[in-house]
Amino acid sequence: MEASPTLLLLLLLLLVIVLYLIVSTGKYYWRNTSVPKTYPVIGCIISFYSNRNRLLDWYTELLNESLSGTVVIRRLAARRTVVTANPSNVEYILKTNFDNYPKGKPFTDILGDFLGNGIFNVDGNLWLRQRRLATHDFTPKSLRYYVTVLRNEVDHELLPFLDAAAAGGSKQQQVPFDLHELLRRFFFNVVCIVFLGIDDDRCCLDPSSPVSDFDRAFQTASAVSAGRGSAPLSFVWKLKRLVGFGSEKELRNAVREVHRCVDDIIREKKRKTTTNHEYDFLSRLIAAGESDETVRDMVISIVMAGRDTTSAVTTRLFWFITTGRMKETEHDLVNEIRSVKELTGGGLGFDYGTLKKLSLLKACLCEVMRLYPPVPWDSKHALSDDRLPDGTEVRAGDRVTYFPYGMGRMEELWGEDWDDFKPNRWLVDNKTCRLVLKKVNPFMFPVFQAGPRVCLGEEMAYVQMKYVVASILDRFVIEPIPADKPVFVPMLTAHMAGGMQVRVRRRDPSR
Ligand code: HEM
Ligand SMILES: *[C@@H]1O[C@H](CO)[C@@H](O)[C@H](O)[C@H]1NC(C)=O
Ligand SMILES: *[C@@H]1O[C@H](CO)[C@@H](O)[C@H](O)[C@H]1NC(C)=O
Ligand SMILES: *[C@@H]1O[C@H](CO)[C@@H](O)[C@H](O)[C@H]1NC(C)=O
Repeated sequence: MEASPTLLLLLLLLLVIVLYLIVSTGKYYWRNTSVPKTYPVIGCIISFYSNRNRLLDWYTELLNESLSGTVVIRRLAARRTVVTANPSNVEYILKTNFDNYPKGKPFTDILGDFLGNGIFNVDGNLWLRQRRLATHDFTPKSLRYYVTVLRNEVDHELLPFLDAAAAGGSKQQQVPFDLHELLRRFFFNVVCIVFLGIDDDRCCLDPSSPVSDFDRAFQTASAVSAGRGSAPLSFVWKLKRLVGFGSEKELRNAVREVHRCVDDIIREKKRKTTTNHEYDFLSRLIAAGESDETVRDMVISIVMAGRDTTSAVTTRLFWFITTGRMKETEHDLVNEIRSVKELTGGGLGFDYGTLKKLSLLKACLCEVMRLYPPVPWDSKHALSDDRLPDGTEVRAGDRVTYFPYGMGRMEELWGEDWDDFKPNRWLVDNKTCRLVLKKVNPFMFPVFQAGPRVCLGEEMAYVQMKYVVASILDRFVIEPIPADKPVFVPMLTAHMAGGMQVRVRRRDPSR
C-alpha cells in the first residue's frame, strides 16, 4: 500500500495545529487559574509525570506559590484532586463538615484486601462502632499498663542489644547497625504485646537477623498496598489483581500469611481466655463477642496504625541531633532527662508521670514531625458539591487532600525560618517552671489528623517515643555513619529510605 505524501503532510499540519492549540490555551489557563500548568483534556499530567518521584516537594512548591494555600490538580484519567495546606480548610474538612468528607471507596479499595473492614479502612457506622470499642484501649489506665510493657522491653531487650553493640568501647569493636530497623522491630514487638497479648513470640531486635513471618508478611502487604496508591492509573493494579500477577500475587500471599498468623493468635487466645487478665485489646474484643473476621480486621488495623510511624519519627530525631547542627540540643535533652529522672528517684526507668515532664523532648518530637510527618498526606473523597472556606470549589467525587508535609513548610504558618530545626517554637519560658509546651491549633499541625477521626494513639505514640529516646540518650551516644542526606519516602507511612546506619558508645554517666 502506498500512502499519499500530501495526505501525510496534511495530517502532520493538523497535529501541529492541535498541539499548538492545547499548549496555548494551556498557557492561558495557567496564567488565569494559577499553578500547576494545566491543559485541556490532559490536565497537568506532564508536570505530574516529571515530578512523580518528588511529589511531596512538588505539591509543597505549588502550595507555596498559590494564593490561599490550596491547589487543584487535574490530570487525564484521574479524579480532580484538591490539595490544601490552609488550616481553615483543614478544619472544615476534618471537623465542621466531617460527614461530607469520608475516606471514600477509592481509598478503601486500595487497602481493602489487606485491612478488610478494620477501623483504618471504613467509614460511617462501621467506623463509629470500632472507634467506640477501641477507645477503651487508649485511656490513662491503659497508658500506665503500656508504660510497664515499655519498661520491660527496654530493660530486657533494647538496652542489652545496645550494650552489646557498644561492647569494648573502641570504634573497631562497636558493631554498626541500622537504627531504624532496630526501632521498627522494637515498636512492632511492643504493639504486638500490648494489643495482641503475645509475649513469648517476639521478633528478634538484631537488625541483621531475619524477621518473623508475621512481620515480613505485614511489611510486604503494606508495601504492595502503598504501591497501589501511588500507581498513576488505578486500573493497572486492578487488572493485575484480576489475573493474580506480579505484585498483586505477592500481596495475595502476604495477606494470606497475615491472616493465618492473626487467626492462630486469636485461636490460641480463645483457648486460654478463661485465665486471661483481659488487659489486651484482643481479649477484650473476643470477650465482647465480635465475630472472628471482625476481630481479625480490627487487630490488623491497629497493628498497622501503631507500627511504623513512631520508629520513623524517633530515627529522624536521632538524625537531627547527631548529624551536626543540633549538638546543643542533645546536651539540653540529656540534662532534661537526667533532672527529670532525679525527681523520681532515678534508677528504674520512667513512669507515666515522669514522661509528662519531658517538655523539651516533646518539643523536639513535634519539630521532627512538623518537617517529616509520618503521614505526610491524607485524602478524603467528597460526597457532594461544596465550597471550602477559602473559596475553592469542590465537586462530588473529588479527592480532597490535607497535606501536613507542606503545612510544616509554609512561611505563612511557621515564619521564614521554617527550614530550621527549632524546638523552641513549641515552648514558652514561664519563669516558675521553665519550659511549658504551647497550645498549637491542631488544624495547623494535623500530623495526627484532627477532629472526630483524630489518631487514637497520639498520647501512646508520645509515651513510647519519649520512653525510648530518653532511655537511649541517658546511656548511649549515637554516632551516625556518614551517609548522603536521607530520602524521605512516602509509603503508607513515610520513613527514611535505607534506614540509618550508626554505632553506639556508652555515655559518661556524669555528663
Ligand atoms: C507518631 C506516631 C503517629 C502518627 C503521626 C499517627 C498519625 C495518624 C493519622 C494521621 C491518622 C489518620 C489516618 C486516616 O484517617 O487516614 C491516624 C489514625 C489512627 N491511629 Fe495513629 N499515628 C501515630 C501513632 C499511632 C499509634 C502508636 C497508635 C496505636 C496503636 C495509633 C492508632 C491509630 C488508630 C487506631 C487510628 C484510626 C483512627 C480512626 O480512624 O478513627 N496511631 N494516626
Ligand atoms: C480569567 O478568567 C476569567 C473568567 O474565568 C476572565 O474574565 C478573565 O479575563 C481571565 N483573566 C485573564 C488574565 O485572562
Ligand atoms: C516559598 O517561597 C518563598 C519565596 O519565594 C521562599 O523563600 C520559600 O523558601 C518557599 N518555601 C518553600 C517551602 O519552598
Ligand atoms: C507556668 O506554668 C505553670 C504550669 O503550667 C502554671 O501553673 C503557672 O501559673 C505558670 N506561670 C506563669 C507565670 O505563667
